[in-house]
Amino acid sequence: MKIGLYIDGEYIKADTMYELINPYNDELIAHVSEGTTVDMRKAVVSAYQAFKKMKRTSALERANILFKAASLLHERREEFAKLITAEAGKPITASRAEVERSVQTLQFSGEAAKQSQGEYIPLGAATGGAGRDAYTVFEPIGVVGAVTPFNFPLNLTVHKVGPAIAAGNTIVVKPAEKTPLSALKLAELFTKAGLPDGALNVVPGEGKALVKVLLEDERVQKISFTGSPEVGKEIKNQAGLKRMTLELGSNSALYVDSSVKNELSNIVQKSVNGAFAYNGQVCIHTQRIYVHEEIADVFLDMFVKETEKLPFGDPLDEKTIITGMINKKSQARVLEWVKEAVDGGAELLTGGNGRESGILPTVLSNVKASDKVMCEEVFGPVVVINRVKSSEEALEQMNDSQYGLNAGVFTNNLKQSLYFAHELEVGQVLINDVPTLRFDNMPYGGVKNSGYGHEGVKYAIKEMTRMKLISLNYQF
Ligand code: SIN
Repeated sequence: MKIGLYIDGEYIKADTMYELINPYNDELIAHVSEGTTVDMRKAVVSAYQAFKKMKRTSALERANILFKAASLLHERREEFAKLITAEAGKPITASRAEVERSVQTLQFSGEAAKQSQGEYIPLGAATGGAGRDAYTVFEPIGVVGAVTPFNFPLNLTVHKVGPAIAAGNTIVVKPAEKTPLSALKLAELFTKAGLPDGALNVVPGEGKALVKVLLEDERVQKISFTGSPEVGKEIKNQAGLKRMTLELGSNSALYVDSSVKNELSNIVQKSVNGAFAYNGQVCIHTQRIYVHEEIADVFLDMFVKETEKLPFGDPLDEKTIITGMINKKSQARVLEWVKEAVDGGAELLTGGNGRESGILPTVLSNVKASDKVMCEEVFGPVVVINRVKSSEEALEQMNDSQYGLNAGVFTNNLKQSLYFAHELEVGQVLINDVPTLRFDNMPYGGVKNSGYGHEGVKYAIKEMTRMKLISLNYQF
């Protein structure tokens, strides 16, 4: 396959192409056009021109485009799932789940396009305000720049594109270099769904230079970025007065209280899924588990047994759960971090070594707070399970993190649930669930180094619109 940049409603061939390689088997998937800064500027101009048309579309027109895109994606779901598996090395069952979520994110966007966000303001309640009524409207901001990661190449693109279109904006996407195909095919699908040319542009290529164009161009009003804190901070420092949404990952934690000792098999199953979903290459993968000491031995024993059952193999195989990492560099880094913890005294309960381009699911215990597998975002199939004496100790250790995205707590104690709900320093608290949980209509955003701003269609729309007040003086 040879594929161009998607600008102004069509594929454009760039002068240079790069080879897109399947991360699992190193096979060539496609030759992808590599956008230059000139191409990126063209995309911005195209989005800027298209905004003149988009801002005049009715809410119903935008909703219908989004619903049509959802139904086209649903029709082509298997093709998109295979594309995600090829470019991201994601197990096919997880890719199918991602496509289903993307369909729903588009449907939520269509529904949100029709919802009013404004309100009536009784100016007569203010001194001197008699004879006036006022209301607020939320207007689109213009061109949005989106920078998307490799791990959910379709749904995290849809999480930026859907709300942008629902609000009446236009958008330029810089997809991850390793996974541009889903975003390019999505743009083509939107054209078929009736989106005006130029309203959605996708420019793959070398990240830094292309993102710099988005940051420096005055016509781009907002940047929505998902990626690492290092890159997020760099982007923020160059963004001037542009609006920002930064989703920068985490080392998500879970507490398992002794009050759930009779429900451990269900909890262990959920925790294993949370720890090893897509090889842990998920911003909210369950990385740190704190278990009350009274149930720790049983929990650890069950957890290791379930982990060792996870099938490793080709991501296209229906049974596969664990497979290759996105690249050799990630594989080497994660193995190095595991070694560092073990050399420092951590107990390796299973895994810890590489297999083909992946890593066997790894469980560590008695890990120090300063070990990288604990305090950094591991983004690999590694989970740390430490014992705690009390919920207070669990809370302290969970909050001892530079990140704060999702956190989970399993408990049958209402008072304890409320304690964690109020005291955890995160954006989302999941009571009786693992942190690896996201529904596409919920607000999703972090604190601390996990970033700021929110996704979750309705909340993203708020950050992609500006409020305007209109006052009517009927006694004039
Ligand atoms: C992420 O990894 O950033 C998103 C996780 C999700 O959408 O489930």
